[in-house]
Amino acid sequence: MQIGFFDSGIGGLTVLHQAKRAMPQEDYLYYADTDHVPYGRKTKEEIKQYVQEAVDFIAEQGVKALVVACNTATSVAIKDLRARYSFPILGMEPAVKPAVNDTHCTKRILVTATPVTIREEKLQNLLHQVDQHHQVDLLPLPRLVEFAEQGNFTDGQAEAYLRETLSAFDLAQYCTVVLGCTHFNYFKDSFHKILPEEIIMLDGSDGTVKNLQHVLAEKGLLETGQGRVTYYMSGRLAEQQRSRYERLLRRLDEMIIY
Ligand code: DGL
Repeated sequence: MQIGFFDSGIGGLTVLHQAKRAMPQEDYLYYADTDHVPYGRKTKEEIKQYVQEAVDFIAEQGVKALVVACNTATSVAIKDLRARYSFPILGMEPAVKPAVNDTHCTKRILVTATPVTIREEKLQNLLHQVDQHHQVDLLPLPRLVEFAEQGNFTDGQAEAYLRETLSAFDLAQYCTVVLGCTHFNYFKDSFHKILPEEIIMLDGSDGTVKNLQHVLAEKGLLETGQGRVTYYMSGRLAEQQRSRYERLLRRLDEMIIY
């Protein structure tokens, strides 16, 4: 049976990309809620409703596990989802723990995410637990989601936005930037150009995919399928988008160097 991946848009493809590298033999379902993207500026109630509708649809298609490949949806809806469905559900959270636990990093840590992820209780609780030395600063970057959805990766707009937003920070004081929104992974090359060389970027994809592998192995659910991906957009089969999605996955292949 297939593994479900869900996001508001194309951000979750960055996590699917990692999963396909780790488990190329599995079959996947990818669902983008394109009718409602971006989630990051909506209310908690709106997001909860959209996510539930989407996951009801995904459950009807049949999945053996679901990755909510969206930090924003995870922060507002993961508890409700786990109570509603019996298959394993894995979420994303900004990689604050590995950033704080990295003993090479003694300077500050900048956590970037959507406005919703930043203001939600889930991240605040996480910081309360792990940010003992008050090393972490928070930065919402909502426009990166829009640039990604419009496919504006290389026209300079996203880079200019990042350059301007990051100019408010003395970057010499930082050792890590956490990419706490799956859409931000498409801009690693722009971050790379702007950030001082010593700063490392961390995102949650690796951790989530390792977790997924572990859960599937533990439940005896690892399978040899055909490595197929079926794409859906807001409850509709999205076969016409396949080539666009495959192009994006190829862009991520090039980005792996970061
Ligand atoms: N990709 C999503 C995340 O990881 C959210 C993007 C959005 O819809 O605002 O938070």
